[in-house]
Amino acid sequence: MSGIYRGLVSYGDPEFSRFLRRAFLHASGRSPESLDRPVIGIATSSSDFNPCHRQQPELVKSVARGIIAAGGLPMEFPTISLGESFLEPTAMVYRNLMAMDVEELVRAQPMDGVVLVGGCDKTVPAQLMGAFSAGRPAIQLVTGPMSTGRYEGERLGACTDCRRFWARYRAGEIGEDEIGRIERNLATTAGTCAVMGTASTMACLVEALGMALPDSATAPAVHADRLRIGEATGAAAVEIAVADRTPDQVVTAASIRNALRVLLAIGGSTNALIHLTAMAGRLGLTVDPDELNELSDTTPVLVELKPTGSHYMEDLHASGGLPAVLHDLRDLLDLSALTVTGETLGERLGDGPAWVDRDVVRPLSEPSRDKGGLVWLKGSLAPAGALIKRSAADPALFETTGRAVVFSSLEDLAARIDDPALEVEASDVLVLQNAGPLGAGMPEAGYLPIPAKLARAGVRDMVRISDARMSGTAYGTIVLHVTPEAALGGPLALVRTGDLIRLSVATARLDLLVSPKELATRRVELPAASNEPLTGYRRLFRDHVLGADQGCDFGFCRPPS
Ligand code: FES
Repeated sequence: MSGIYRGLVSYGDPEFSRFLRRAFLHASGRSPESLDRPVIGIATSSSDFNPCHRQQPELVKSVARGIIAAGGLPMEFPTISLGESFLEPTAMVYRNLMAMDVEELVRAQPMDGVVLVGGCDKTVPAQLMGAFSAGRPAIQLVTGPMSTGRYEGERLGACTDCRRFWARYRAGEIGEDEIGRIERNLATTAGTCAVMGTASTMACLVEALGMALPDSATAPAVHADRLRIGEATGAAAVEIAVADRTPDQVVTAASIRNALRVLLAIGGSTNALIHLTAMAGRLGLTVDPDELNELSDTTPVLVELKPTGSHYMEDLHASGGLPAVLHDLRDLLDLSALTVTGETLGERLGDGPAWVDRDVVRPLSEPSRDKGGLVWLKGSLAPAGALIKRSAADPALFETTGRAVVFSSLEDLAARIDDPALEVEASDVLVLQNAGPLGAGMPEAGYLPIPAKLARAGVRDMVRISDARMSGTAYGTIVLHVTPEAALGGPLALVRTGDLIRLSVATARLDLLVSPKELATRRVELPAASNEPLTGYRRLFRDHVLGADQGCDFGFCRPPS
């Protein structure tokens, strides 16, 4: 059964179920003939708590126009929405909840295909994780990035500039009045963060995976192109549904490898590795960290966007968009990978864009950096791995042996980081414990602030290590996702102030220079794990969340291996 008769309500009388469904659909005022068309769901995620999705109602209308023009029946339905800076303790905790919401509504409701409309960091991976598990034909439409604002002649965009100005404010270089004026010019339009943060990275990866239309990742949220892309996505969804082109036909080991190449070439967010791992896991696929390092060493950074370069997403769109990047990378990609529209990636790329601004998208022969942005580290401090974004780090700190200054929790960090009595030097290594998935929901706290007294003395970067994540808009010599996390008794939990830690980006190592005997003694002294009584979703999260190396998904949401 397809169309409105797909998946009937169980009354014990299928004819009655069909009769009742028609009767209630007549209440919507749709013509009886339209009920025979392919049904295309439009999963929306508008919310007043998600300003990044502010223009979604207009975008959804364009999708519906495209569906109707192609002979389908659009059926819009809401899911939860995750606004990155509006969820306590962090939106990351709720990504899997949104994925479950999308999965069940796509599976349970009568639709032949679905357009997923999202944008802010966690929404796109959540929608795709859900759609992958539901196994129904699907296509992603991102809301598009914000346009930049202006402050005293300077272009500003959320949120690399948020961090830059906040660091200057913390260092005492600008005052209350000025930071207030800047605050009102950082996020001035609808859309997702204006730089190559997590939202932009995910938009590019989805296009690289083939799960969205070509040239759809970068069009600004308020640009007319965004609405044209919406209309074309709606029309494409009808064809995809009729062809029954399910996500497992598009997302394969080859397309995931292509997406990793793109992640590296755009200097993308570290968060994307977690999300890509989770999305792949929903289809029984894996992201191999060793392969990541091999790809990183052979994929140059081509895109000059903040935080690794100086441009914004609107510049990338005007410079040829992701097709320009993909075309330059074509010799490193598997061009036989199928895309959601039924063509191969190679067919999609054709001859590439007519014009590319080489200040924004560097040619392969003259890249911004010779090697990719990410390195997966291993060593005695991170037996299952940790991640560093070398493209956003200070090369002078790539080979560091330093004294640990340890913060045992987010609360401890907040209480002591700016304490004038804190004993800390610029050559020290800041360590944050218990901020991983189980410990704290894995917030974007890995961008530990430079202690105020060092910031005021002009220190701009230090080696910082944690089991937390970092915003894609942040920068610095920051080691993230240390696994196993401290709350699970990983070696990170055993570090004490004064220990020596060695970071070597060249050898992809992260080591705690403390004897195994001493570590065994400390392990015995570790406090017992807290067993706070929890109910509902938070209990589900605590009991089932996997480590960062497995995408922080729930094990029970993955297909049995
Ligand atoms: Fe929504 Fe950055 S806060 S994309």
